Amino acid sequence: MSTIDEVKSKIDIVDLVSEAGVKLRHAGKNYTGFCPFHDNKKTPAFVVWPESGTWRCFGQCNEGGDIFKFIMKREGLDFKDALQKLADRAGVKVESFVSEKPEIKEAHDHLRTLLEDAVIFYRTHLFNNKEILAYLREKRGLSDATIEAFGLGYAPHGYDNLIRHFIPKGYKEQELIEAGMLSIRDEDNKSFDRFRNRIMIPIRDENGKMAGFGARIVDPNDIPKFLNSPETPIFTKGRLLYGLDRARKPIRAADQAVIVEGYLDVIALHQAGYENVVSPMGTALTEDQLRLLKKSTRRIVLALDPDVAGQKAVLRGLDAARSAMDREGELGFDARGLLRNEARLQADLRVASMPDDMDPDEIVARDKEEWKRLIETAKPIVTHVMDSLAQGQNLNDAKVKNQIAAQVLPLIEDLPSPMERDTYRQALARMLRVDERSLTAAQVQGPVVRRKPRLATGQSQKTDLSVVTVNPTLKIESYCLGVLFRKPELLYRLDRTLQEFGLSPLAVEDFEYTDHQLLFGVVRMAVEQDEKDHHHYVMTHLPEAVADLSKELLARTESLDLLDDKITEELLARFMDLRRANAMSNVNQLRFLQEEEQQQGGGNLKMYQQQAMQFTKLLHGLDQAKRKLSSKRQA
Ligand code: CTP
Ligand code: MN
Repeated sequence: MSTIDEVKSKIDIVDLVSEAGVKLRHAGKNYTGFCPFHDNKKTPAFVVWPESGTWRCFGQCNEGGDIFKFIMKREGLDFKDALQKLADRAGVKVESFVSEKPEIKEAHDHLRTLLEDAVIFYRTHLFNNKEILAYLREKRGLSDATIEAFGLGYAPHGYDNLIRHFIPKGYKEQELIEAGMLSIRDEDNKSFDRFRNRIMIPIRDENGKMAGFGARIVDPNDIPKFLNSPETPIFTKGRLLYGLDRARKPIRAADQAVIVEGYLDVIALHQAGYENVVSPMGTALTEDQLRLLKKSTRRIVLALDPDVAGQKAVLRGLDAARSAMDREGELGFDARGLLRNEARLQADLRVASMPDDMDPDEIVARDKEEWKRLIETAKPIVTHVMDSLAQGQNLNDAKVKNQIAAQVLPLIEDLPSPMERDTYRQALARMLRVDERSLTAAQVQGPVVRRKPRLATGQSQKTDLSVVTVNPTLKIESYCLGVLFRKPELLYRLDRTLQEFGLSPLAVEDFEYTDHQLLFGVVRMAVEQDEKDHHHYVMTHLPEAVADLSKELLARTESLDLLDDKITEELLARFMDLRRANAMSNVNQLRFLQEEEQQQGGGNLKMYQQQAMQFTKLLHGLDQAKRKLSSKRQA
């Protein structure tokens, strides 16, 4: 989810507007109040739709928008500042995903080139080393094609191989240090090869750009077993997922991502034809990593080692597991953290445990189909925790029951959806064979369960729930925008057809959300330029604040076939649906306002009637257009 979408999902418009001093009153599914932007205090003309997170003044302003527009208008801010303000309120960090500054980008590109050269260097050493090659081919079952595809290599023995190879090629020692290829000896500040006698695994970002290396021992006596590049300007472990550059498309195609623990598991699974697999790099999963995946799918399966996911981590206590999270070499399993991320990111996280103490690479080596079955039977996090706690325990023992309940209940209490909470409480009661009523937190001995404290930011329980509902308008708008982003020139055809149908060309008002309006503005500008490459124009004229949103829009439309004529018709239909839904809700609202006005004798009646008439006319026009469109489709 982009920062902007996260802010949208976390801020409740009703809270926001109320806090601005507008007294809101329930009116069916919506709320009404006096408009804070103009001073007619006779009758309430200001309407808030909590579901879509939008508002509109049907009075003098005759204007509406989302949370951003509200703050922009209220406080005279531009979008960027409004976003910052609301992000602060929601506790969301606004990253400046702005493309790196030119001089920094140049420096980074230079480091990346160096790393690409290092890949070639290590590769040459691998293919000159029969022993290591034999290990990869025979012991690990990797084909030469796989070794090539993943760019595997070998770092030779010795401390000055890199200096001897790279300095004559024009690189500087300092650059090798910055790229994490050389380490510095404490005693005398001399540099030396960081990776020696190890199998080298290039790590790339999601776009395939070099970021760093993972390196596995060859000699079983060496430690540590895996050594990674240090954190460098282009290697941030918590923000990368190994294999994502190759897995991105397959993840989207399968609408599912699988996370395993090891580099070699990723490689083996890809080789076996399971290409939707990635791994972190020896650290626990971060929210950033889940976010990265979420750009391609919301369905994520964690394929965890039995001893980590199962008994050990869970029994050590979930909180302890959490503090152990960042230890190298262990994929921390922090059920509570994962559940929170799951809710916040609207993801579907499941856990598959590996049987018989086997790593995923051993499983596919034993039986390819078994992997498929394991992933298909992955369980929701809470179920997984329940099952692994119960495994091998005497469930007739009251103490055991109590212990299990004490660990599972806090997880259940944390779930955002009341329905899920109920379901899991019932499941737990069934498993422990106790009456569900005895499972109230207070009666269970163990860590005291407290509800999450209300955040000072005004985030309420209600907002938490809104996280799990997906707003259709938001979805349709971002889909249409994503397509237009890729192919701005579609706008010509859309406008032409709309006009043929007697409808107005597309305008920013066709989008309810301010960020979408901003982006559409850029698309519109692009097609009005003389420049040939509209897409390029869009990409180079994006407002800073929407950079990460636009990346996401692009990613989501990556696999669409935009050459198809159908896409224009499809967009047309969607835009017409949006107009129709908007007009409908306005007409309904106006009907309600008119009734109120009649009862209270305010002076707005005429204005409401005029507006209602306009929307009704629009609805009529849309109906006709829809008929024309469908006959056009059949033709
Ligand atoms: N890891 C690490 N540091 C270590 C050990 C492990 O960063 N000292 C990370 C690596 O990313 C590794 C993953 O944890 O890929 C899993 O570790 P492990 O199961 O030990 O390695 P495998 O990938 O299974 O390697 P192999 O099959 O070669 O033993
Ligand atoms: Mn392994």
